[in-house]
Amino acid sequence: MSRIRLPLINPSQITPEEVWASRRTWLKQAGLGALALGAGGLPVSAALAGTGPYAGRRDPKYVVTDKLTSEKDVSSYNNFYEFGSGKQDPAKYAGKMQTQPWSVVVEGEVAKPRTFDIDDLLKLAPLEERVYRMRCVEAWSMVIPWEGYSLSTLLKQVEPTSKAKYVEFVTAVQPKNMPGFYEHIIDWPYVEGLRIDEAMHPLTFLVFGVYGKKLPNPNGAPVKVSVPWKYGFKSGKSLVKIRLVEQRPLTSWVKIAPTEYGFFANVNPNVPHPRWSQATERRIGDGFFAPRVKTLMFNGYGDQVASMYSGMDLRRNF
Ligand code: MTE
Repeated sequence: MSRIRLPLINPSQITPEEVWASRRTWLKQAGLGALALGAGGLPVSAALAGTGPYAGRRDPKYVVTDKLTSEKDVSSYNNFYEFGSGKQDPAKYAGKMQTQPWSVVVEGEVAKPRTFDIDDLLKLAPLEERVYRMRCVEAWSMVIPWEGYSLSTLLKQVEPTSKAKYVEFVTAVQPKNMPGFYEHIIDWPYVEGLRIDEAMHPLTFLVFGVYGKKLPNPNGAPVKVSVPWKYGFKSGKSLVKIRLVEQRPLTSWVKIAPTEYGFFANVNPNVPHPRWSQATERRIGDGFFAPRVKTLMFNGYGDQVASMYSGMDLRRNF
């Protein structure tokens, strides 16, 4: 976490007023002012993990009770190939990424294409805190308190047309600030995609913060997407463009190794990666010799998402 940038000014100065105001109002209404100070002894599903300026309200429907991964591990053990292929590279190098000003273009099969700057996005809806299990295709996992709102909130703003069958996510390219750019592992920019129903699903989260604070650069500042029932590579970091399209986009990992990484990438313990099992996972922070955790179908979110895949052969559509 050596590169997490602590705010040099009072957070209220860098946080849109709405974020503060909505959170204060909610705390007041709920009579939960003490929560913001990190009151102990509360059930994990009720207590906010984050107490910083980006800490949103929690809806128990979107909180798992697994032990949280430490804030340090969340931001110092990462995959972010723009900064190199080592897990510590993003923490070492992502501090150079320029995240201000920042805007996200939302275009394609929509009635109202629009460019949102980051403050516009933060004003669209009050932030919520969601504790998500995140499972990497490399068979490690974390439990992370993200701060954001459902991606559908943003997509509804631009009014997708009936031709919008898929959503493509395009992420930032800053060659001068991204040492991994020159490694040519990926044909930049990093591109990911979802089917429109997956993108509109309430679990699909647009993330601006973690642990109550602004998203650190290694995690994909200033805005990323989080899709907790899919392998982590579906969750594009540092988004600059969201395109609604008719054809399935050719996504980065499918382009690199189509026999190893599928478009759907739903977490599935019954379908091994060609080179390793997906039946269990290592929880980051538990120590290398801790027993491995059993991987759950759809990463444990089956009740909420399985119906989107009924009738589909998940071995073929991996
Ligand atoms: N987004 C971009 N732009 N570049 C990347 O290399 N890596 C993906 C995904 N999003 C990646 C990305 C992969 S492989 C994973 S596992 C997750 O981010 C890791 O997220 P985390 O490091 O915040 O846990």
